[in-house]
Amino acid sequence: MPSFTHHIFVCCNRREPGNVRGCCDPDASESLRMAFKMALQRRNLGPTVRANKAGCLDQCEQGPTVVIYPQQIWYGGVRLQDVERIIDETIIGGHVLDDLLIAGEMLNTKGKGPPQAAGEGEAAVGQTK
Ligand code: FES
Repeated sequence: MPSFTHHIFVCCNRREPGNVRGCCDPDASESLRMAFKMALQRRNLGPTVRANKAGCLDQCEQGPTVVIYPQQIWYGGVRLQDVERIIDETIIGGHVLDDLLIAGEMLNTKGKGPPQAAGEGEAAVGQTK
């Protein structure tokens, strides 16, 4: 049995409408995960690539979110029409899709971006604006 080359974790978390963080699967359809599963089946990649349902991956503001391990490739804003391209170009071709990539400095920032360096954007302690 060959070992897995990729695990595609697809966030299927659902929150109530109006939640400030939003969620990746508002209609609880798991349609994105199912699209990955079907695309993998069509290419007979099932033995080595899995598309797994994931709970919140904590990148909600950039969702729908997908992460591919062990390569640690984070994609955000993933739509159904992106699935075939992700399989063909990233899983098979080994290329990162820049238009979907969540930049490393945006991970775990709750969508706010990296902390600003001291002195940027805010007055330092004791300093008036
Ligand atoms: S709800 Fe999908 S990353 Fe949080």
